[in-house]
Amino acid sequence: MADRRQVLRMGAVAAAAPALTAAVATPALAHGHDRASSEVFGHRGASGYRPEHTLASYELAARLGADYLEPDLVSTKDHVLVCRHEPEIGGTTDVASRPEFANRKKSVLLDGVSVTGWWTEDFTLAELKTLRAVERLPAVRQRNTLYNGLFQVPTFTEMLELRAKLSKELGRDLGVIPETKHPTYHRRLGMELETPLLRTLERFGLNKRGAKVWIQSFEAANLRAIRGQARVNLVFLTSAAGSPFNDTTTYAQYLTPAGLKELSRYADGIGPDKAQVIPRKADNTLGTPTSLVKDAHAAGLKVIPYTFRAENQFLPADYQVGTDPNAYGRALDEQITFLGTGIDGLFTDQADIGVLARKLRG
Ligand code: G3P
Ligand code: CA
Repeated sequence: MADRRQVLRMGAVAAAAPALTAAVATPALAHGHDRASSEVFGHRGASGYRPEHTLASYELAARLGADYLEPDLVSTKDHVLVCRHEPEIGGTTDVASRPEFANRKKSVLLDGVSVTGWWTEDFTLAELKTLRAVERLPAVRQRNTLYNGLFQVPTFTEMLELRAKLSKELGRDLGVIPETKHPTYHRRLGMELETPLLRTLERFGLNKRGAKVWIQSFEAANLRAIRGQARVNLVFLTSAAGSPFNDTTTYAQYLTPAGLKELSRYADGIGPDKAQVIPRKADNTLGTPTSLVKDAHAAGLKVIPYTFRAENQFLPADYQVGTDPNAYGRALDEQITFLGTGIDGLFTDQADIGVLARKLRG
């Protein structure tokens, strides 16, 4: 493991206080990026510092040193892929305050659960572009509310244009890891995600072997379906409980050695909940690693767990500092511990912390 004082002398010092110094730290980190075996995935961009899934969030993640940028994808009414965590946009845009869209509010059965709000599939791209992004977690990330109302909902195309521009500027090939959100739901609406996703990747020359692209899904069926056309890596996401929508195989069954072997016929990696790599004990302290990393590697699958967040409320009890749930805890140490299990990368809301943890881990 690298000595912390040595790492700090190497120029990463500003990254240790990202919320205060992100803008200052940016150039040194982006250009002084050192390669290591694990990769840092900017979760919804740099969602710890900017409203998620905005171009500003993706750009900051890149400048903080993320290897990959993560857009979650849903569809508009005119079947354009846009970057949102869910098709329901009441919590991540200002749509609720727009009288002209008040009558679009409705309840929908999303993967068997009734959800009330505003839905991207009811908005044309032109209508969606009149909205502005807001911080999803204003009580946790109050500083991010500074940016409420400034940024549009980006299309996947705009996100890839930004990726290309920043790759050129930063002198490194930025990866992209799009997630197909609720693929069965979208297909039943007649707005399937996979064809426009692959077509868009093609247009950018990214659907080819060796491209720094992973396609993610919490459903195995659509990964299986696109295996023949996708030249890029596929990653199956798993929840800590339950099963994929419309699937009788549980996530736990997918993660057995036999399940992983079967998965490896069409997937290249798994994206487990981090608790499936190291569970918490009953007292919420961090427990001991499961055999998942070893089992997945034995099946030839990479392991990229989610989601690493710096605030106390997302950390195990023994990594928290003080009692404020929104204050930062020992996030670096948590990530270093997880890197010790042999994971191949991690999704984090604070890309600079991921970069620094990797550097400290050595
Ligand atoms: O895709 C990795 C992680 O993002 C999965 O969780 O809900 O944040 O999309 P979610
Ligand atoms: Ca995601």
